[in-house]
Amino acid sequence: MKRFLIAGNWKMNLNRGEAVQWGQQVASAIAEDHPVDIVVCPPSVYLQAAGEALTDSPVSLAAQDMYHQPNGAFTGEISAAMLVDLGCRYVVLGHSERRHILGESNELVQQKVQAAIAAELIPIVCVGETLEQRQAGQTTDIVQEQVAGSLGALSPQQVSQMIIAYEPVWAIGTGQVATPEQAEEVHADLRTILENRYNHEAATQVRIQYGGSVKPENAAELLAQPNVDGALVGGASLKADSFLGIVEAAATCLNP
Ligand code: 13P
Repeated sequence: MKRFLIAGNWKMNLNRGEAVQWGQQVASAIAEDHPVDIVVCPPSVYLQAAGEALTDSPVSLAAQDMYHQPNGAFTGEISAAMLVDLGCRYVVLGHSERRHILGESNELVQQKVQAAIAAELIPIVCVGETLEQRQAGQTTDIVQEQVAGSLGALSPQQVSQMIIAYEPVWAIGTGQVATPEQAEEVHADLRTILENRYNHEAATQVRIQYGGSVKPENAAELLAQPNVDGALVGGASLKADSFLGIVEAAATCLNP
């Protein structure tokens, strides 16, 4: 039986008041024994406010990024221990916006993944191809290179406990969602890549989310795919109602 993970990545959006209101609305809608794992990734400056609004709810906090060094002269950066201190359970690493806009390399993502795991944060590692790469037939090669470069020498056991998010760059923020078949094809490829690099158990246990223009209207058909274990939601997570619509689509998939 799948355990879905639905995460809302606000990116650089909302203000403090909106973050608190979102947290209160979601907290009041989600029962303690909700069958879906629910995660919110606010901007780091609002982690504490959102976390307080979600106190006593099963919704977990995630950061959108972190730095791999434990402390020191790294102006503007935030360590894994600081995120744990604020109540984070997860951290998104290697998001395509960080890879493409801020120039993050696989090597840097790998250092961050190791530091996150050492601090007992669960990494949500993002991979995905651009439109040009897809059109050139390079999708599998690109995600394979990103998995190898970003996960590196983790143990199969460490891989089995983390989250991978397949986010095709062409589907992010464009409204052009991958078809369920396109998502399933890459998710299945990712499991084969992970089985070859680690082992069968790691490949089956790791949860693979799909991200890119997920909305309440298209979530159910994506989540119904055998290898899709959840969604990483950007724009449609900014309003609590629409985020809750996606969470409900996941719950309905479990109990149609
Ligand atoms: P959108 O849902 O806005 O396409 O963003 C997806 C994403 O990048 C989540 O991390």
